[in-house]
Amino acid sequence: MMNIEIWASGGGTNADTLIRYFKNVADISVVSVGCNRREAGVFQVAKQHAIPSMYWGKSNWNTKDILAELAERKVDYIVLAGFLKLVPAEVTQAYNGRIVNIHPSLLPAYGGKDMYGIHVHNAVLANKEEFTGITIHEVNEEFDKGKVLAQYTTKLSPLTEGLDSIKSKIQTLEHTNFAPVVDAWIRSKTLIP
Ligand code: GAR
Repeated sequence: MMNIEIWASGGGTNADTLIRYFKNVADISVVSVGCNRREAGVFQVAKQHAIPSMYWGKSNWNTKDILAELAERKVDYIVLAGFLKLVPAEVTQAYNGRIVNIHPSLLPAYGGKDMYGIHVHNAVLANKEEFTGITIHEVNEEFDKGKVLAQYTTKLSPLTEGLDSIKSKIQTLEHTNFAPVVDAWIRSKTLIP
């Protein structure tokens, strides 16, 4: 059995999709959810699925303790699903090649610090792009710089596109593709038949 912990900071729609998907996979499980924003909707998502969740905010973030907890829970892979804090180098080193992130743009475009969520969509809209998309990539110690695993594209209408429509197109790509890519990625690392 391979164990996933999801890290998120927001509403948790991707966390929800991942949890639902892996419920139907025999040898990979989502065992826990970590979050750095107390008011984040992802806590409700974890509760609905009866999955334990942890809060690590600014006041109680302790990387050493978090690593010890991960070992205790036997976490093999960390999946960032809208986690907006830079993952500390101690964690990227301990989980080298075993952390994956989803980003709502076609990296390297619209990536880096402060490029997340609707900030990305607003920048894409401001530049009247004809395409945008999502990137699923491994995580290293820099924002949005790890090895790209997969990208999916969607067409935009530069004249009529708005924030709601772009958000919905990106969410559809994320909810369709993130979980299967994570599944295949874990299989490629562990040679689960
Ligand atoms: C997703 O669109 C994800 O791509 C983005 O946050 C959103 C989380 O939504 N991640 C980033 O911007 C990371 N830089 P959710 O909480 O509904 O899953």
